[in-house]
Amino acid sequence: MRRALTSFAGRAGVSLEGRGRIGGMKLLVLGGTWFLGRAVVAGALARGWEVTTFTRGWSGAPVPGAAVVHGDRTDGADVARLAGLGPWDAVIDTSASELAPRTVLMGATALAPVAGRYVFVSTVNVYRGWPDEALSLESEVLDGPPEADEEYGRLPADWTGPDWYYGRQKAGAERAAVAAFGAGRVSLLRPGVILGRGEYVGRLPWWLRRAERGGEILAPGDPAKSIQPVDVRDVAAFALDQSVVSGGQVHNLAAPIGRETMGGFLTACLEATASTGRLTWVPDEVLVRSGLRQWSEIPLWRTHAGVWNIDSTSAFDAGFRSRPLRETVADTWAWLSEGNSPVPHPRWAEHGIAAEKERSILAGIS
Ligand SMILES: NC(=O)c1ccc[n+]([C@@H]2O[C@H](COP(=O)([O-])OP(=O)(O)OC[C@H]3O[C@@H](n4cnc5c(N)ncnc54)[C@H](OP(=O)(O)O)[C@@H]3O)[C@@H](O)[C@H]2O)c1
Repeated sequence: MRRALTSFAGRAGVSLEGRGRIGGMKLLVLGGTWFLGRAVVAGALARGWEVTTFTRGWSGAPVPGAAVVHGDRTDGADVARLAGLGPWDAVIDTSASELAPRTVLMGATALAPVAGRYVFVSTVNVYRGWPDEALSLESEVLDGPPEADEEYGRLPADWTGPDWYYGRQKAGAERAAVAAFGAGRVSLLRPGVILGRGEYVGRLPWWLRRAERGGEILAPGDPAKSIQPVDVRDVAAFALDQSVVSGGQVHNLAAPIGRETMGGFLTACLEATASTGRLTWVPDEVLVRSGLRQWSEIPLWRTHAGVWNIDSTSAFDAGFRSRPLRETVADTWAWLSEGNSPVPHPRWAEHGIAAEKERSILAGIS
Protein backbone atom coordinates (compact mmCIF):
# COMPACT_ATOMS: atom_id res chain seq x y z
CA MET A 1 0.00 0.00 0.00
CA ARG A 2 1.24 3.48 -0.84
CA ARG A 3 2.51 5.44 2.11
CA ALA A 4 0.82 8.67 3.06
CA LEU A 5 2.97 11.78 3.05
CA THR A 6 4.32 12.35 6.48
CA SER A 7 6.60 14.94 7.90
CA PHE A 8 8.46 13.38 10.74
CA ALA A 9 11.54 13.40 12.87
CA GLY A 10 13.43 10.57 11.19
CA ARG A 11 16.47 8.81 12.59
CA ALA A 12 18.75 11.43 11.14
CA GLY A 13 16.30 14.06 9.95
CA VAL A 14 14.36 16.75 11.76
CA SER A 15 10.65 17.49 11.70
CA LEU A 16 9.28 20.22 9.51
CA GLU A 17 5.91 20.49 11.17
CA GLY A 18 5.21 23.79 12.87
CA ARG A 19 8.48 25.25 11.72
CA GLY A 20 8.76 28.83 10.60
CA ARG A 21 11.20 30.29 8.12
CA ILE A 22 14.75 30.60 9.39
CA GLY A 23 17.34 32.94 7.92
CA GLY A 24 19.78 31.76 5.25
CA MET A 25 19.23 29.86 2.04
CA LYS A 26 16.32 27.42 2.17
CA LEU A 27 16.58 24.59 -0.32
CA LEU A 28 14.15 21.83 -1.26
CA VAL A 29 15.77 18.78 -2.85
CA LEU A 30 13.46 16.43 -4.74
CA GLY A 31 15.34 13.19 -4.07
CA GLY A 32 18.32 13.53 -1.77
CA THR A 33 18.96 10.05 -0.47
CA TRP A 34 20.65 8.34 -3.42
CA PHE A 35 23.52 9.31 -5.65
CA LEU A 36 23.40 12.85 -7.03
CA GLY A 37 20.65 14.03 -4.70
CA ARG A 38 22.64 12.87 -1.69
CA ALA A 39 25.69 14.82 -2.88
CA VAL A 40 23.51 17.91 -3.40
CA VAL A 41 22.19 17.67 0.17
CA ALA A 42 25.66 17.13 1.65
CA GLY A 43 27.01 20.07 -0.35
CA ALA A 44 24.17 22.37 0.69
CA LEU A 45 24.52 21.50 4.37
CA ALA A 46 28.26 22.15 4.12
CA ARG A 47 27.39 25.63 2.83
CA GLY A 48 25.26 26.16 5.91
CA TRP A 49 21.99 26.00 4.00
CA GLU A 50 18.72 24.74 5.42
CA VAL A 51 17.72 21.67 3.43
CA THR A 52 14.50 19.73 3.04
CA THR A 53 14.40 16.44 1.13
CA PHE A 54 11.36 14.86 -0.49
CA THR A 55 11.44 11.11 -1.19
CA ARG A 56 9.17 8.12 -0.68
CA GLY A 57 11.51 6.82 2.01
CA TRP A 58 12.06 3.59 0.10
CA SER A 59 15.74 3.89 -0.65
CA GLY A 60 18.65 5.30 1.22
CA ALA A 61 18.79 6.86 4.68
CA PRO A 62 18.41 10.63 4.99
CA VAL A 63 21.54 12.75 5.17
CA PRO A 64 21.95 13.80 8.81
CA GLY A 65 20.95 17.42 9.22
CA ALA A 66 18.36 17.57 6.45
CA ALA A 67 14.66 17.96 7.17
CA VAL A 68 12.82 14.94 5.84
CA VAL A 69 9.46 14.86 4.10
CA HIS A 70 8.15 11.58 2.75
CA GLY A 71 5.75 11.36 -0.14
CA ASP A 72 5.35 10.24 -3.72
CA ARG A 73 5.83 12.70 -6.58
CA THR A 74 3.22 10.86 -8.62
CA ASP A 75 0.58 11.57 -5.96
CA GLY A 76 -1.12 14.98 -6.17
CA ALA A 77 -2.10 15.06 -2.49
CA ASP A 78 1.48 14.33 -1.40
CA VAL A 79 2.81 17.08 -3.66
CA ALA A 80 0.20 19.59 -2.43
CA ARG A 81 1.10 18.79 1.17
CA LEU A 82 4.78 19.30 0.36
CA ALA A 83 4.05 22.69 -1.22
CA GLY A 84 2.21 23.65 1.98
CA LEU A 85 5.47 23.25 3.90
CA GLY A 86 7.23 25.97 1.85
CA PRO A 87 8.45 28.53 1.03
CA TRP A 88 11.91 27.72 -0.30
CA ASP A 89 14.42 29.89 -2.08
CA ALA A 90 15.06 27.12 -4.60
CA VAL A 91 14.20 23.57 -5.59
CA ILE A 92 16.77 21.15 -7.03
CA ASP A 93 15.05 18.28 -8.81
CA THR A 94 17.23 15.16 -8.76
CA SER A 95 14.50 12.53 -8.67
CA ALA A 96 12.99 12.69 -12.16
CA SER A 97 15.00 9.97 -13.86
CA GLU A 98 11.96 7.77 -14.37
CA LEU A 99 9.07 10.19 -13.95
CA ALA A 100 6.77 11.22 -16.79
CA PRO A 101 6.77 14.86 -17.88
CA ARG A 102 3.25 15.32 -16.53
CA THR A 103 4.43 14.24 -13.07
CA VAL A 104 7.20 16.83 -13.19
CA LEU A 105 4.62 19.37 -14.39
CA MET A 106 2.29 18.59 -11.50
CA GLY A 107 5.06 18.98 -8.92
CA ALA A 108 6.59 22.09 -10.44
CA THR A 109 3.18 23.74 -10.78
CA ALA A 110 2.48 23.14 -7.09
CA LEU A 111 5.91 24.43 -6.06
CA ALA A 112 6.15 27.47 -8.37
CA PRO A 113 4.22 29.76 -5.97
CA VAL A 114 6.35 28.74 -2.98
CA ALA A 115 9.87 28.50 -4.46
CA GLY A 116 12.10 31.02 -6.18
CA ARG A 117 14.08 28.90 -8.64
CA TYR A 118 13.88 25.41 -10.10
CA VAL A 119 17.06 23.55 -11.00
CA PHE A 120 16.15 20.53 -13.09
CA VAL A 121 18.72 17.77 -13.49
CA SER A 122 18.20 16.50 -17.01
CA THR A 123 20.59 14.57 -19.29
CA VAL A 124 22.43 14.82 -22.62
CA ASN A 125 19.99 12.16 -23.86
CA VAL A 126 17.54 14.98 -24.59
CA TYR A 127 19.52 15.70 -27.78
CA ARG A 128 18.35 13.99 -30.94
CA GLY A 129 21.98 13.52 -31.98
CA TRP A 130 23.09 11.59 -28.88
CA PRO A 131 25.12 9.30 -29.06
CA ASP A 132 26.06 9.71 -32.72
CA GLU A 133 26.89 13.39 -33.11
CA ALA A 134 28.98 16.02 -31.40
CA LEU A 135 26.68 17.94 -29.04
CA SER A 136 26.45 21.55 -28.01
CA LEU A 137 23.69 23.75 -26.63
CA GLU A 138 22.73 24.47 -30.24
CA SER A 139 21.98 20.79 -30.94
CA GLU A 140 18.37 19.82 -31.58
CA VAL A 141 16.38 18.71 -28.52
CA LEU A 142 13.93 15.82 -28.91
CA ASP A 143 10.19 16.33 -28.90
CA GLY A 144 8.23 15.60 -25.74
CA PRO A 145 5.37 17.77 -24.48
CA PRO A 146 5.22 18.90 -20.83
CA GLU A 147 1.97 17.05 -20.20
CA ALA A 148 3.12 13.73 -21.72
CA ASP A 149 2.53 10.55 -19.74
CA GLU A 150 4.99 7.65 -19.38
CA GLU A 151 3.76 6.07 -22.63
CA TYR A 152 4.97 9.01 -24.70
CA GLY A 153 7.81 7.97 -27.00
CA ARG A 154 7.63 4.31 -26.01
CA LEU A 155 9.16 2.21 -28.80
CA PRO A 156 7.69 -0.96 -30.31
CA ALA A 157 9.45 -4.19 -29.32
CA ASP A 158 10.75 -4.71 -32.89
CA TRP A 159 12.18 -1.15 -33.14
CA THR A 160 15.75 -1.06 -34.44
CA GLY A 161 16.24 2.71 -34.70
CA PRO A 162 17.68 5.03 -32.03
CA ASP A 163 16.31 4.59 -28.52
CA TRP A 164 14.84 8.02 -27.88
CA TYR A 165 12.34 7.03 -25.18
CA TYR A 166 14.35 8.26 -22.19
CA GLY A 167 15.46 11.38 -24.04
CA ARG A 168 11.92 12.30 -25.06
CA GLN A 169 10.64 11.81 -21.53
CA LYS A 170 13.41 14.00 -20.10
CA ALA A 171 12.92 16.63 -22.83
CA GLY A 172 9.23 16.74 -21.91
CA ALA A 173 10.17 17.04 -18.24
CA GLU A 174 12.47 19.99 -19.03
CA ARG A 175 9.55 21.69 -20.80
CA ALA A 176 7.34 20.94 -17.80
CA ALA A 177 9.78 22.71 -15.45
CA VAL A 178 9.88 25.73 -17.74
CA ALA A 179 6.09 25.74 -18.22
CA ALA A 180 5.51 25.85 -14.46
CA PHE A 181 8.26 28.24 -13.31
CA GLY A 182 8.85 30.28 -16.47
CA ALA A 183 12.17 30.08 -18.32
CA GLY A 184 13.68 32.94 -16.30
CA ARG A 185 13.48 30.96 -13.02
CA VAL A 186 14.77 27.63 -14.35
CA SER A 187 18.19 26.04 -14.77
CA LEU A 188 18.31 22.96 -16.98
CA LEU A 189 21.42 20.87 -16.33
CA ARG A 190 22.30 18.14 -18.83
CA PRO A 191 25.04 15.85 -17.48
CA GLY A 192 26.62 13.08 -19.51
CA VAL A 193 27.96 10.26 -17.31
CA ILE A 194 28.21 10.93 -13.57
CA LEU A 195 30.59 8.83 -11.46
CA GLY A 196 31.68 8.87 -7.84
CA ARG A 197 30.74 7.82 -4.33
CA GLY A 198 27.30 6.25 -4.22
CA GLU A 199 27.11 5.32 -7.90
CA TYR A 200 24.50 2.58 -8.16
CA VAL A 201 24.55 2.10 -11.93
CA GLY A 202 27.63 -0.09 -11.67
CA ARG A 203 30.09 1.55 -14.07
CA LEU A 204 33.05 2.72 -12.02
CA PRO A 205 32.49 0.18 -9.21
CA TRP A 206 32.66 -2.62 -11.79
CA TRP A 207 35.93 -1.37 -13.25
CA LEU A 208 37.41 -0.98 -9.78
CA ARG A 209 36.44 -4.52 -8.77
CA ARG A 210 37.80 -5.82 -12.09
CA ALA A 211 41.10 -4.03 -11.52
CA GLU A 212 41.27 -5.40 -7.98
CA ARG A 213 40.86 -8.96 -9.32
CA GLY A 214 43.99 -8.51 -11.45
CA GLY A 215 45.24 -10.80 -14.21
CA GLU A 216 44.92 -9.91 -17.88
CA ILE A 217 42.26 -7.23 -18.21
CA LEU A 218 40.37 -6.59 -21.45
CA ALA A 219 40.81 -2.87 -22.12
CA PRO A 220 38.38 -1.61 -24.75
CA GLY A 221 39.29 0.22 -27.94
CA ASP A 222 41.91 2.94 -28.04
CA PRO A 223 43.74 4.02 -24.86
CA ALA A 224 43.96 7.55 -26.27
CA LYS A 225 40.17 7.84 -26.70
CA SER A 226 38.77 10.90 -24.94
CA ILE A 227 36.10 10.24 -22.30
CA GLN A 228 34.12 12.81 -20.27
CA PRO A 229 32.67 11.46 -17.00
CA VAL A 230 32.10 14.02 -14.27
CA ASP A 231 32.30 13.65 -10.50
CA VAL A 232 29.00 13.57 -8.62
CA ARG A 233 30.28 16.21 -6.17
CA ASP A 234 31.09 18.59 -9.01
CA VAL A 235 27.62 18.22 -10.54
CA ALA A 236 26.12 18.76 -7.09
CA ALA A 237 28.21 21.88 -6.45
CA PHE A 238 27.19 23.35 -9.79
CA ALA A 239 23.52 22.58 -9.15
CA LEU A 240 23.82 24.46 -5.86
CA ASP A 241 25.51 27.39 -7.61
CA GLN A 242 22.71 27.41 -10.16
CA SER A 243 20.08 27.56 -7.45
CA VAL A 244 21.22 31.07 -6.54
CA VAL A 245 21.81 32.64 -9.96
CA SER A 246 19.24 34.72 -11.79
CA GLY A 247 17.79 34.27 -15.24
CA GLY A 248 17.21 31.18 -17.36
CA GLN A 249 20.17 28.83 -17.73
CA VAL A 250 20.87 25.71 -19.77
CA HIS A 251 24.15 23.83 -19.46
CA ASN A 252 25.70 20.57 -20.59
CA LEU A 253 27.88 18.98 -17.91
CA ALA A 254 30.80 16.86 -19.07
CA ALA A 255 34.57 16.92 -18.53
CA PRO A 256 36.53 18.98 -21.07
CA ILE A 257 36.87 17.12 -24.38
CA GLY A 258 40.33 15.55 -24.63
CA ARG A 259 41.40 15.98 -20.98
CA GLU A 260 40.61 12.43 -19.85
CA THR A 261 41.26 9.23 -21.77
CA MET A 262 40.17 5.62 -21.47
CA GLY A 263 43.82 4.70 -20.91
CA GLY A 264 44.17 7.22 -18.10
CA PHE A 265 40.95 6.01 -16.54
CA LEU A 266 41.92 2.35 -16.49
CA THR A 267 45.42 3.16 -15.24
CA ALA A 268 43.81 5.14 -12.42
CA CYS A 269 41.68 2.08 -11.56
CA LEU A 270 44.82 -0.11 -11.41
CA GLU A 271 46.62 2.44 -9.24
CA ALA A 272 43.72 3.02 -6.87
CA THR A 273 43.29 -0.69 -6.21
CA ALA A 274 47.06 -1.40 -6.14
CA SER A 275 46.30 -3.98 -8.79
CA THR A 276 48.81 -6.40 -10.26
CA GLY A 277 46.61 -6.68 -13.35
CA ARG A 278 47.76 -5.71 -16.84
CA LEU A 279 45.72 -4.10 -19.57
CA THR A 280 45.43 -5.72 -22.99
CA TRP A 281 43.89 -3.30 -25.45
CA VAL A 282 41.41 -4.89 -27.83
CA PRO A 283 40.41 -2.91 -30.93
CA ASP A 284 36.82 -1.70 -31.30
CA GLU A 285 36.25 -3.87 -34.41
CA VAL A 286 37.09 -7.04 -32.48
CA LEU A 287 34.77 -6.11 -29.63
CA VAL A 288 31.95 -5.18 -32.00
CA ARG A 289 32.40 -8.49 -33.86
CA SER A 290 32.22 -10.32 -30.53
CA GLY A 291 28.70 -8.96 -30.08
CA LEU A 292 29.47 -7.30 -26.74
CA ARG A 293 26.75 -5.05 -25.38
CA GLN A 294 28.19 -1.56 -25.60
CA TRP A 295 28.01 0.81 -22.61
CA SER A 296 27.12 -1.89 -20.08
CA GLU A 297 28.83 -5.23 -20.75
CA ILE A 298 32.03 -3.23 -20.95
CA PRO A 299 31.09 -0.19 -18.88
CA LEU A 300 31.82 3.21 -20.45
CA TRP A 301 32.86 1.64 -23.80
CA ARG A 302 30.80 2.79 -26.75
CA THR A 303 31.91 3.30 -30.33
CA HIS A 304 29.35 5.97 -31.32
CA ALA A 305 31.10 9.16 -32.36
CA GLY A 306 29.11 11.54 -30.15
CA VAL A 307 29.22 9.75 -26.79
CA TRP A 308 32.26 11.64 -25.59
CA ASN A 309 31.90 14.74 -27.72
CA ILE A 310 29.86 17.00 -25.45
CA ASP A 311 30.63 20.70 -25.37
CA SER A 312 30.21 22.04 -21.82
CA THR A 313 31.83 25.43 -22.41
CA SER A 314 28.85 27.38 -21.07
CA ALA A 315 28.99 25.49 -17.77
CA PHE A 316 32.72 26.11 -17.32
CA ASP A 317 32.11 29.80 -18.08
CA ALA A 318 29.41 29.76 -15.39
CA GLY A 319 31.78 28.28 -12.78
CA PHE A 320 31.47 24.52 -13.25
CA ARG A 321 34.54 22.73 -11.96
CA SER A 322 35.33 19.23 -13.15
CA ARG A 323 37.99 17.55 -11.02
CA PRO A 324 40.48 15.12 -12.58
CA LEU A 325 38.96 11.69 -13.16
CA ARG A 326 41.75 9.95 -11.22
CA GLU A 327 40.52 11.77 -8.11
CA THR A 328 36.99 10.45 -8.66
CA VAL A 329 38.40 6.95 -9.19
CA ALA A 330 40.54 7.06 -6.03
CA ASP A 331 37.72 8.48 -3.88
CA THR A 332 35.20 5.94 -5.15
CA TRP A 333 37.62 3.12 -4.33
CA ALA A 334 38.09 4.58 -0.85
CA TRP A 335 34.31 4.65 -0.47
CA LEU A 336 33.91 1.04 -1.58
CA SER A 337 36.83 -0.02 0.60
CA GLU A 338 35.15 1.48 3.65
CA GLY A 339 32.51 -1.23 3.19
CA ASN A 340 29.92 1.02 1.57
CA SER A 341 27.66 -0.36 -1.08
CA PRO A 342 25.31 1.49 -3.41
CA VAL A 343 21.53 1.39 -3.16
CA PRO A 344 20.50 -1.91 -4.84
CA HIS A 345 19.42 -1.18 -8.39
CA PRO A 346 18.38 -3.37 -11.35
CA ARG A 347 20.89 -1.66 -13.66
CA TRP A 348 23.78 -2.94 -11.55
CA ALA A 349 23.40 -6.51 -12.88
CA GLU A 350 23.64 -5.35 -16.50
CA HIS A 351 27.20 -4.16 -16.01
CA GLY A 352 30.40 -6.05 -16.64
CA ILE A 353 31.62 -8.83 -18.87
CA ALA A 354 31.64 -12.42 -17.62
CA ALA A 355 35.16 -13.65 -16.78
CA GLU A 356 34.88 -16.58 -19.20
CA LYS A 357 33.84 -14.33 -22.09
CA GLU A 358 36.65 -11.89 -21.33
CA ARG A 359 39.20 -14.73 -21.36
CA SER A 360 37.85 -16.07 -24.64
CA ILE A 361 38.09 -12.66 -26.40
CA LEU A 362 41.61 -12.14 -25.09
CA ALA A 363 42.62 -15.63 -26.22
CA GLY A 364 41.25 -14.82 -29.68
CA ILE A 365 43.60 -11.86 -30.19
CA SER A 366 46.79 -13.38 -28.78
N1 LIG B 1 23.77 8.70 -13.08
C1 LIG B 1 24.12 9.32 -14.20
O1 LIG B 1 25.17 9.03 -14.82
C2 LIG B 1 23.22 10.42 -14.74
C3 LIG B 1 23.56 11.00 -15.94
C4 LIG B 1 22.78 12.04 -16.44
C5 LIG B 1 21.67 12.46 -15.74
N2 LIG B 1 21.32 11.86 -14.58
C6 LIG B 1 20.14 12.35 -13.86
O2 LIG B 1 20.54 12.75 -12.57
C7 LIG B 1 19.38 12.75 -11.71
C8 LIG B 1 19.78 12.18 -10.37
O3 LIG B 1 20.05 10.83 -10.50
P1 LIG B 1 20.38 9.93 -9.24
O4 LIG B 1 21.07 8.76 -9.82
O5 LIG B 1 21.06 10.69 -8.20
O6 LIG B 1 19.00 9.50 -8.58
P2 LIG B 1 17.58 9.08 -9.17
O7 LIG B 1 17.58 7.64 -9.48
O8 LIG B 1 17.12 9.92 -10.22
O9 LIG B 1 16.59 9.45 -7.96
C9 LIG B 1 16.52 8.72 -6.84
C10 LIG B 1 15.95 9.58 -5.71
O10 LIG B 1 14.63 10.02 -6.01
C11 LIG B 1 13.70 9.53 -5.04
N3 LIG B 1 12.48 9.19 -5.78
C12 LIG B 1 12.37 8.35 -6.84
N4 LIG B 1 11.09 8.27 -7.24
C13 LIG B 1 10.37 9.09 -6.43
C14 LIG B 1 8.97 9.42 -6.34
N5 LIG B 1 8.06 8.89 -7.17
N6 LIG B 1 8.60 10.30 -5.40
C15 LIG B 1 9.49 10.84 -4.54
N7 LIG B 1 10.82 10.56 -4.57
C16 LIG B 1 11.25 9.69 -5.50
C17 LIG B 1 14.42 8.34 -4.41
O11 LIG B 1 14.05 8.08 -3.09
P3 LIG B 1 12.89 7.00 -2.74
O12 LIG B 1 13.15 5.78 -3.57
O13 LIG B 1 13.04 6.79 -1.28
O14 LIG B 1 11.62 7.65 -3.12
C18 LIG B 1 15.87 8.81 -4.43
O15 LIG B 1 16.15 9.67 -3.36
C19 LIG B 1 18.30 11.97 -12.45
O16 LIG B 1 17.33 12.87 -12.93
C20 LIG B 1 19.04 11.34 -13.62
O17 LIG B 1 18.22 11.21 -14.76
C21 LIG B 1 22.08 10.85 -14.05
